[in-house]
Amino acid sequence: MQQIPQETIEKVLASTDIVRLIGAHLQLERMGAAFKAKCPFHHEKTPSFTVSPTRQTFHCFGCGKHGNAIGFIMEYESLSFPDAVRKLAAGANLSMMEVSDFPTHPETMPTPFHIRPLRPDEWDEVAALIHHSTNSWYRINLNREIFGPDPLACRVFPEIYEALDPGCCLVAEDATGKLVGSCFYHPRETHWSLGIMNAIPESRGAANALLREITRLADDAGLPLRLVSSACNLDSFSLYSKAGFVPVRIYQDMILSVPETGMDPASAPALISSVRPATMDDLPAIVALEEEISGIRREKDHRFFIENGQGVWTTLVIDGADGLDGFLTSIAHPGSRMLGPGVSRDTATALALLWSQLDRTHRGSTPVWLAPADATELVHTCYGWGAKNCELHLAQTRGGSQRHSGFIFPTFMPETA
Ligand SMILES: CC(C)(COP(=O)(O)OP(=O)(O)OC[C@H]1O[C@@H](n2cnc3c(N)ncnc32)[C@H](O)[C@@H]1OP(=O)(O)O)[C@@H](O)C(=O)NCCC(=O)NCCS
Ligand SMILES: [Zn+2]
Repeated sequence: MQQIPQETIEKVLASTDIVRLIGAHLQLERMGAAFKAKCPFHHEKTPSFTVSPTRQTFHCFGCGKHGNAIGFIMEYESLSFPDAVRKLAAGANLSMMEVSDFPTHPETMPTPFHIRPLRPDEWDEVAALIHHSTNSWYRINLNREIFGPDPLACRVFPEIYEALDPGCCLVAEDATGKLVGSCFYHPRETHWSLGIMNAIPESRGAANALLREITRLADDAGLPLRLVSSACNLDSFSLYSKAGFVPVRIYQDMILSVPETGMDPASAPALISSVRPATMDDLPAIVALEEEISGIRREKDHRFFIENGQGVWTTLVIDGADGLDGFLTSIAHPGSRMLGPGVSRDTATALALLWSQLDRTHRGSTPVWLAPADATELVHTCYGWGAKNCELHLAQTRGGSQRHSGFIFPTFMPETA
């Protein structure tokens, strides 16, 4: 199907002043650099609908509707994308010749996407996007949801990721100015990792456009990309597989409801007395151990966890005869309760770290962790504690394979594999 050329869309947007356009329909009031009005898209008593002349966008803090002039007119007048472009072109006295030959078919989707870094004032919007796209995908495909009802719980992703890697979140905006996708990435010494990727169910191609840009950046840096993708989600597996990612490992996601009183002392692994909280002095040993066991080097992440500026991280280490035999971090946050990242030399040290994290950090809650699928003894001991499988994940890497020995507990914050 014929698509509206990007230049035409840009020309139409450049020739339209969104304040004038919306001001013709709504009573706009100046508020500092922006304008305010009662939202036309949901019922409200006090105005939460804003128009920004500098960005040429509108945003409603009440219902979350957001977009540029094309998006406004589509929503306000229930027009298809081509009809909205045509209407604005007419209003701006652009030659109708230029826009008359688009099909009127509403399926002519507003592509391509504009890929740009996330702005600091868009965290709530990106949280809502992550919440909506993830819960929609799981509801439609697996008849369940991942996140609770509050979209703002997903602010954990922009908050933590932007503290760790400022500027490393890309968003995809469609031609109506709406955010339709987001993806976080983490440049490190040995590799880049790809954080959570989301695209709203109504968009096609946004995830691909984001991935293309991040693979281009990683290729320019000459480093491999790594991620952990859900094996229950073929859409994401295929997205990465098509882009050249190869599956290298399988993980079993396990959850356990930890009693308020802690883990049953009778189940305590032999080595728990060698487990202790990490300090900054452990940093070099942690970094070296992870590189030895999983082949990746990333001091920044471990420094960030031990500094714990957010008050949500706990890193435990286990001492062996010649230095550290393992470490395991965990996060306790309303939006994410997860053990990892961590590595350890063998089953006994891995179990001592897992049990200690569950007992010390997660009493009265139900955290998740990813155990190597082939770690039979470890997995069966976890079953014995009452753990259940809830998902499978695949480590997928692009450009360079990964050597590993020992146990790896990956995580999504930031992603490792
Ligand atoms: C996973 C997700 C980002 C994919 O978004 P999307 O809109 O389907 O992605 P795109 O349309 O940009 O690209 C998907 C690609 O995979 C392809 N694909 C999907 N299923 C496929 C299959 N079964 N076999 C082969 N290819 C397949 C598509 O054809 C497309 O490739 P193409 O452009 O070469 O045709 C989206 O569904 C989402 O946000 N899900 C919820 C959150 C989530 O699970 N995120 C991923 C893990 S963090
Ligand atoms: Zn609204």
